[in-house]
Amino acid sequence: MSEAKARSVRFPADFSWGTATSSYQIEGGWMEGGKGLSIWDAFSHTPEKTRNGETGDLTSDHFHRYKEDVRLMREMGLKNYRFSISWPRVQPLGYGKENLEGIRFYSSLVDELLDNGITPWVTLYHWDLPLALALEHDGWLNPKIADFFARYAELCFKHLGDRVKNWITLNEPWVVSILGYGFGTFAPGRVSTSEPYVVAHNLLRAHGQAAELYHTRYQPGQKGRIGMSNNCDWREPLTDTPRDRDAAERARLFFLGWFADPLYRGDYPAVMRERVGERLPRFSQEDVRRIHRSCDFFGLNHYTTLYAAHAAPGEAVRGNPYDNGGLVEDQDVKLSADPNWAKTSMGWSMVPWGCRKLLLWISDRYAQPEIILTENGCSSNDVVVEGKVHDPARIEFLRAYLGEAHRAIEEGVKLRGYFAWSFMDNFEWALGFAMRFGLHYVDYATGKRIPKSSAKWFAKVMQSGLVE
Ligand code: GAL
Repeated sequence: MSEAKARSVRFPADFSWGTATSSYQIEGGWMEGGKGLSIWDAFSHTPEKTRNGETGDLTSDHFHRYKEDVRLMREMGLKNYRFSISWPRVQPLGYGKENLEGIRFYSSLVDELLDNGITPWVTLYHWDLPLALALEHDGWLNPKIADFFARYAELCFKHLGDRVKNWITLNEPWVVSILGYGFGTFAPGRVSTSEPYVVAHNLLRAHGQAAELYHTRYQPGQKGRIGMSNNCDWREPLTDTPRDRDAAERARLFFLGWFADPLYRGDYPAVMRERVGERLPRFSQEDVRRIHRSCDFFGLNHYTTLYAAHAAPGEAVRGNPYDNGGLVEDQDVKLSADPNWAKTSMGWSMVPWGCRKLLLWISDRYAQPEIILTENGCSSNDVVVEGKVHDPARIEFLRAYLGEAHRAIEEGVKLRGYFAWSFMDNFEWALGFAMRFGLHYVDYATGKRIPKSSAKWFAKVMQSGLVE
């Protein structure tokens, strides 16, 4: 990291700086304001599914404290704020009647942001599927979910699109498919080697329908744009042999190519078709028409890097601490971390150069799309000392990753924005409250927020465009 540290870089004046959050992670109010239940409400209330049985029932209590949160945003000079809408808050069952009180909540939040000079970026789906859709209609396994999702998306465009100009249909469909339906570590907690491919397919189809609806009926009048946020770690070949280079490329295609190839090239990567065979669904012509070229920008969430090496068939099996790369069984790739890499409290390696390589790879494979880093950040064991939270490791992380992102821009990547994950500490899914990713500390017992030193550092970066 020292190399990036030594450089001082300036981002373009029109670069979009922001921070990000998601509904289930920050809102609380799980049974308030007419909200329906989500699969995350059910999952977190199921014994053994989250650390210490923790839930998002209250979490950072943003539902009641959103005005205070927007004030903190203004105080740090935030220009862009990415949040997600809880589908069951807006439409309790996921179909049928909308909940006007829920819509009013998001409408007030949007107004509050705009009144404070902050541009809203809205994610329609950050994992909190209405429980009724899962119980009655098989959730993402049912092809009909594309219609349900498009109808929900339309409610959002209709009620908020006069003021919201940046839409993200889905956050990290890879996580939904692999962790939700493959490994079962996230809601709805299913374990399968075929369902992730069906789920991913329906997620892409749902995105396609919502994007088409926006482009044809809403964009002409509302003049906003729509995209998807995909997550990907970088995969670096362990050695320079053709076998390891192929393994690393395969791992990238099974991770990001799975979603980005249909969006930017019209079909799944050939290597997936070869290896997954009939378990990988096929797109109809109508699907392709809707999905291909449906994004106005490329949203990317990036956190870490691993080495990839060729594995003999059957050699790469689940249970390896680094099996976080899609369905291991289908890839024949062994992943590993350099023990010398510094690690965050999540155990994720800090490898800033991986960010630059990934940006270049995306630019190359998908014909130079406009990219927005919709998430990047790190967890650390932050503590309050005399009312203050000092988090130098987070500052170092952000500084180094931004340095490499800037290098990518110098090398021609059209990176147009950067959102730090996260605006504040929140419920880190199955890991509960132990992992703190925020620029603001949250004392969960009292709800008190404290800007960490990283919030002050990032405020200066946003204001000056300068990372030094
Ligand atoms: C992303 C996710 C966020 C947040 C972050 C840190 O995958 O979109 O919700 O949890 O990771 O783990």
